[in-house]
This record gives sequence, structure tokens and C-alpha cells, in this order.
Amino acid sequence: MIHYNKHIKKQFSIIIFIIITCCLVGCRAQKSELSNIEDDGIIVGFSQIGAESAWRTCNTRSVQDAAAEQGVQLVYANAEQKQENQIKALRSFIAYQVDVIAFVPIVTDGWDNVLQEARDAGIPVLVTDRKIDVADQSLYAGFIGTDSVKEGRNAGLFVLDKYKDKRERFAETEEYINIVELFGTEGSSVALGRAEGFREILEPHPEFQIIYSKSGDFLRSKGYELAVEFLEMYEDIDVIFSHNDGMTLGVIEAMEEKGLLPGTDIVIITIDAQQAAIDALREGKVNCVIECNPKTGPEIIKLAEKTGSR
Ligand code: AHR
Repeated sequence: MIHYNKHIKKQFSIIIFIIITCCLVGCRAQKSELSNIEDDGIIVGFSQIGAESAWRTCNTRSVQDAAAEQGVQLVYANAEQKQENQIKALRSFIAYQVDVIAFVPIVTDGWDNVLQEARDAGIPVLVTDRKIDVADQSLYAGFIGTDSVKEGRNAGLFVLDKYKDKRERFAETEEYINIVELFGTEGSSVALGRAEGFREILEPHPEFQIIYSKSGDFLRSKGYELAVEFLEMYEDIDVIFSHNDGMTLGVIEAMEEKGLLPGTDIVIITIDAQQAAIDALREGKVNCVIECNPKTGPEIIKLAEKTGSR
């Protein structure tokens, strides 16, 4: 869903992709025997990337609650923003012989070997929230998450509409619309997808120029830090496209400290739709909130049960 400030109210349904490849059906050879865990339901090893944002905390809670409600035993590991910790966690799930592994890949690359190890052990793997880039797509059984390219496109469409008049006058005024972009974790599919979708919409329109684009790692503190920097560097920023609410809240704080009015002096677009961002939208401090739903736990656990039960 995309929330526009007094503009178009359009429903964009969250796209949930579920790709189940046949290759894993029936390939489990071993029975799970994790000592001291009862064997009356499936065991899912879940590797989360950390707790960098309110979105992430909500996503973790959604998976944990769904597992508890559906009687699935969850072995949870927090990677604290490090891919090496995630790979270690996946290897320990393989050693435990869990029934299914689900993980949020912090970045797209570097998963081929560990996923091959999971396949060799007969353990199906589900990828959630962020996508991976592997040579053999059949190394994972399914993906559940939102469409980040579409989220980026929606941000672009909002800007296109917002600056319709200024765009039409560009031939005579030659006044560019200056954009600052704060993207998420470098190398993550969501950062890449949001940036791609946004550019896809704006590139055919030379009136727009991205004058600053840096990673704020999806962190509020980094959003604040970068805002202090770019507000010092540029006086003529029209738009800030921030890839998540956490960074946006940091930007708002920095702008207000500088005596600027967020949402009025600079148009702000944000992704996630956590409560604080919706409140900021109501107050006019944010102009567009694009929803990215973190509550995917029930779908993940349902798919894990389907994939892991033999
Ligand atoms: O991968 C989803 C992104 O990660 C969310 O937009 C952001 O808030 C989170 O940390």
C-alpha cells in the first residue's frame, strides 16, 4: 500500500512471491534428531540479520509468533549485520539437522556454497525478505518477501506527479529538481531494487538529477549523520528519497535542528510505514510513505511446514 499525502490514494498490494521448486521434494534423507527438542512438529532454523530497524524487530516477532501459534519449533539466530555470522548459523542448522532453514540474506551474493551444503544434507532452504543471487536457482525452495523494485518505482511515480508543473516548465526555466537518496545496506537486494525502480521511472525525465546518493545502512543514526552532511553540502535540495523509515526519522531530526521544515522545505519519501512515519505523514513532515509489510511470519511458517514435512 502506498500512502500519499493528500494525493492519489492507490492500493498497491504487497507482492508475495512463492516459488516452490520441485527439486527438494522428497530429497530429504535424514530424520531430524535435535536432542532435547521434542520431535512432534517440524524444526525450523531461522537466521535473521539483526535488529537495525523497527521494521526488522517487527519482522522477527512476526516469525516467532507465527511459529509459536502454528506449533513449529524455531531455532533463532541473530547475525548482528554480518554475513559471516549468517553462514555460521546456517552451518549449525545443518549440523543440527533441522527440517527447514529460513533466512533473511543480508546481501545478495556469497550463498552458493552454504546452500549446496544444505542441499547435500537434504535440508530445504527458504529465503525471505531479501533476494539472493545464486548460479543455481534450485538451491532454495522458495522466496517470501515484498517487491523492492516496485517500491522504488512507486517512489519515482510520486515524485513525477508531485513535480508535474515544474517539469512542464523545465524547457524555459532549466530548473532541475534535485534529489538526495539515502539507500539501505550496500549489496542488499532491497537497496538495489529500490534504487533500480526509482531510476527506471525518473531516467526518461532529464529534469530530475540525483545529486547525492549514499548508504545509511537502514539505521536512524546513519540517516541523521548523512543528513547533517548533505544539508551542509547543498542548499537547493528538492527531494529526499530515503529507503527506510529509520533513516528518515534521522533526517527529520537533522533538518529540524537546522531550522528547516521537513515535508515543506524539502519533499520526503520514505519506505516501510512504521507508526512513527505514518505520524510524520499526518503532521506533514513526510510527503509519501510506501508500505513494506514486515508481517510475513505466517506465510513463512506455513511454507516451511509444507516444504519440511515428509
Ligand atoms: O529488507 C527490508 C528493509 O530492511 C526495511 O525496509 C528496513 O527498514 C529494514 O531494515
